[in-house]
Amino acid sequence: MKMWAQAQPNIALVKYWGKRDLARNLPAVGSLSITLDALYSRMSVDFLENPGSDELLLNGESNTAMLPRVSMCIDRIAGNDRSAARIQSEFNFPVAAGLASSASAFAALVLATYEASGQTADTLTMARIAGSVSGSAARSFYGGFVELTAGSKDIDVESIADPEDWPLKVVVAVTETGPKRLSSGEAMIRSGKTSPFYSSWVERQADDLAMAREAVEKRDFEQLAVVSEHNCLKMHSVMWTSRPPIVYWNNATLACMETVRDLQKRSEPVFFTIDAGPQLKAVCLPSAEETVRDGLSQTDGVVTTYTSGLGYGARVSEQL
Ligand code: PMV
Repeated sequence: MKMWAQAQPNIALVKYWGKRDLARNLPAVGSLSITLDALYSRMSVDFLENPGSDELLLNGESNTAMLPRVSMCIDRIAGNDRSAARIQSEFNFPVAAGLASSASAFAALVLATYEASGQTADTLTMARIAGSVSGSAARSFYGGFVELTAGSKDIDVESIADPEDWPLKVVVAVTETGPKRLSSGEAMIRSGKTSPFYSSWVERQADDLAMAREAVEKRDFEQLAVVSEHNCLKMHSVMWTSRPPIVYWNNATLACMETVRDLQKRSEPVFFTIDAGPQLKAVCLPSAEETVRDGLSQTDGVVTTYTSGLGYGARVSEQL
């Protein structure tokens, strides 16, 4: 029977931006995210009898763009002298467009590779391997609210609240479906080297993490909103002040921010966050979900919206 591994994207409320150790891909800062339930990546790995090169199918079509990182990730588990692999992947949302597809993809890939090679490992070990390829992928091994700590030797990741403990909703406003202009990996290296705001970003991250963690513990939506928007805008300020500047937003991203501001003025419990791409993610209490989705879908330049609750970490399932 064919086994598939499934993982969901996660959206950081306190962001990972910057690398402390390039060779090991260790983050310069901790981060706190929510795992989504409506979007998914599914991966299946088959090791072939015959030698040859790896093959990656993305939604049924051959893909070479992601293949080098996919092969490197499989090597880290199965070794460099392994046989070639055929990797099948399915996504129900646009890939490499700032919707955290690499987070869910590499979490699912690590799990699928363990399955295919008959090895086992605990969740943290697998999360660390996924994180060594895509930092945010470590968080997709866990569900609900997830905190990643940038330890001195390696990362630590844990779920600090389950999805049902505080069932927030997320409305993703897609403003562009094409791939992002610059990968987040390259962009954060540039920020670390050139933005005059970078060191203060790193220094203050512990305060934002503490405030967000406390907000989750107390289920204090207002506090989570304030710290999340602030942290997001700080990360983008670091990007904008990098040389050359890194600007992922478009006009519709700004229009979506205005929509969220208008909703807040009408006392709707909602806040925004934006990652390395032009899509806006609005996080809200369930009571505001419909209003937020309607507001964002009617905003100029929004191509489509996705609505999601909070979901669980990476897992194995039979068949698609
Ligand atoms: O994990 P990466 O290399 O795709 O970087 C993720 C960076 C952000 O999405 C912008 C922030 C985050 O914490 O997810």
